[in-house]
Amino acid sequence: MDELLEAALLPSWASSGYRARRAMWGFEPPAPLCAGSIALVTGASRGIGEAAARLIAAPGVRVFVVGRDRAALSAAATELARSSGAQVHALGADLGSLESVRALASAVRASTGRLDLLVHCAGAMHQTRALSPDGIERTVAEHVVGPHCLTRELEPLLAPRSSVVFVCSAGMYSEALDVDRLQIDVEPFRPARAYARAKRAQAVLGAQWDLRLAARGARAYVMHPGWVDSRALREGLPRFAALMSPLLRSPLEGADTIAWLASTRPPGPFGLYLDRQPRRLHRLVHTKVEPGEEQRLWDWCERVVRPRPVEVVA
Ligand SMILES: NC(=O)c1ccc[n+]([C@@H]2O[C@H](COP(=O)([O-])OP(=O)(O)OC[C@H]3O[C@@H](n4cnc5c(N)ncnc54)[C@H](OP(=O)(O)O)[C@@H]3O)[C@@H](O)[C@H]2O)c1
Repeated sequence: MDELLEAALLPSWASSGYRARRAMWGFEPPAPLCAGSIALVTGASRGIGEAAARLIAAPGVRVFVVGRDRAALSAAATELARSSGAQVHALGADLGSLESVRALASAVRASTGRLDLLVHCAGAMHQTRALSPDGIERTVAEHVVGPHCLTRELEPLLAPRSSVVFVCSAGMYSEALDVDRLQIDVEPFRPARAYARAKRAQAVLGAQWDLRLAARGARAYVMHPGWVDSRALREGLPRFAALMSPLLRSPLEGADTIAWLASTRPPGPFGLYLDRQPRRLHRLVHTKVEPGEEQRLWDWCERVVRPRPVEVVA
């Protein structure tokens, strides 16, 4: 039944998929983090990130919530603290700016020496091509380079048995990883294509982080939330969102697997999780990764996040 749903796509990624699997497998609500745990969730002022923060928060848990709009973030943080009893810290940052990401990481390091969960959820689909302050196409800057930089900066804080969760998208199934074409600088810019390429790169990066974090007993997971009723979907794909409106998942349905991954830390092979199951990474032959391309992505990310040497003017 699960495989039939997944093969048919629409009923799987819509709310019906989540509800069918919950009924079939008897999903209990995901357990919040244990008291004493410390988590950071980007994109937590609304939508899937806010729902994920709600699911993991509980008395005795500390949660850093991150977004750009400080008023919205502060309101979400206040509500989260009130409803969950968790200790909540709101930290404004733009994941599309390396300077902002580094400032965020240093604020976190000043406040805690340990992190049990890092959720990369911030993001959007942009309608036009623009560059980040660091000169990177902004979809790639926000979904790939910013999360890489933040994970790198916070890596020393990641405790054994900690998890990093990348909130990816089924959109990635349509595109291959090609580091040279990631930023769509030659061909015409199409929002869905730029988003799909960035999300494919995010999934590959997640797999690389999973290998690297094994040495410290930590794991990285990549999941996709299905089609969720959110501002990002309504603004990114307005016609699709209007058409699909009655079928979309709620943010809590989309966030369920994030919280479940955080509380259960499933062992086993890397995959793109949906509804608590690892799914295949490819659906189309042309998206299979060329040998060496994963390493090229890692090397490129490393190069762009490396602080530039300061120019000394005599
Ligand atoms: N909705 C879907 O169907 C769907 C499907 C697959 C994947 N996703 C992914 O799920 C994640 C969350 O999206 P959502 O649907 O929940 O959208 P949403 O409701 O619009 O939430 C996006 C969140 O990310 C924050 N954000 C956006 N850009 C940011 C930046 N540059 N720096 C810091 N924070 C930023 C937003 O706050 P500020 O605007 O204040 O910064 C907000 O908190 C995204 O990565 C998206 O790609 C969504």
